[in-house]
Amino acid sequence: MPNVDEITGRRRMRRNRRFDWSRRLVRETIVTADDLIWPIFIIEGENRTEPVGAMPGVERLTTDLAVDAARRAVALGIPAIATFPNIPLEQRDETGSEILNPDNLINRVSRAIKAEVPEIGIITDVALDPFTSHGHDGILRDGIIVNDETVEQLAKAAVLQAQAGADIIAPSDMMDGRIGAIRIALDEAGFSDVAIMSYATKYASAFYGPYREAVGTGGLLKGDKKTYYIDPANTDEALRETELDLEEGADMVMVKPGMPYLDIIRRVKDTFAVPTYAYQVSGEYSMIMAGVEKGFFDEIRVIMETMGAFKRAGCDGVLTYFAPKVAGWLKEG
Ligand code: PBG
Repeated sequence: MPNVDEITGRRRMRRNRRFDWSRRLVRETIVTADDLIWPIFIIEGENRTEPVGAMPGVERLTTDLAVDAARRAVALGIPAIATFPNIPLEQRDETGSEILNPDNLINRVSRAIKAEVPEIGIITDVALDPFTSHGHDGILRDGIIVNDETVEQLAKAAVLQAQAGADIIAPSDMMDGRIGAIRIALDEAGFSDVAIMSYATKYASAFYGPYREAVGTGGLLKGDKKTYYIDPANTDEALRETELDLEEGADMVMVKPGMPYLDIIRRVKDTFAVPTYAYQVSGEYSMIMAGVEKGFFDEIRVIMETMGAFKRAGCDGVLTYFAPKVAGWLKEG
């Protein structure tokens, strides 16, 4: 048998791992409530929730309960929430025109939260998919998602969202030029302080399935989103998208989905050194919850491990449906 000290040259990596205190002392990344953004689903009505079947533990909330959720988030130290509407089918049409209604569900929620819980950051998604009858993120003409007309509409919608109280506009549609158009529109409308978090790198992923049930686009979507979201095989393209969005005026950038794309997060952070976020999407949530429900692994440990992975990959924060759970666990210690 060789002598281990000869093999390792007397280097013993396990020395620092011996005690809880020494592991804490050498720990490189930590997760805090400040890292969390909580996405919530909104429905019409009052004092009512609807479970999302594909997302165990997630419920759609009426506006009043969304205000309560915002209050809860503040109490837990979560800096911001992101709102996603599920509007009645009859309000959805070919062009997603309801997004241009200043009093649409998403804008009413922003107003209510702003009035009742002014200390929380409100992030609104600007994309047509919850508003179109075909579930696409853009205007559909002759089988094509038309870019420029969609961008014009998104820019108008962004101004309405800012008027309603959104602090950060988060375009999730991947149309070319939308960040620049939204920046100009916001500035011209007097909202130069409203920030843009760009879904700069959004992949044509299968992990969005449960979300589509949550916002009610699942049964509607015809075809796929491959002509506007990025091919999961590509990484250089993610950098080009991010570069363009930053040039056009994005204040923060996002990579979506999260866990399967940690390599992209690292490249984006190393290349641009800007505030970088991951969206741990619905499919990632449901996958973990399914495993927890089956007793395959420990809920707290596995979820906290994913949070740590995002931090390690270079994230400044994570959009995650686990946000209130994680913040609660952190608070309890
Ligand atoms: C579309 C949008 C998607 C998500 C949020 N906004 C993707 C899609 O439906 O194609 C996904 C969020 C999730 O899966 O948690 N603009």
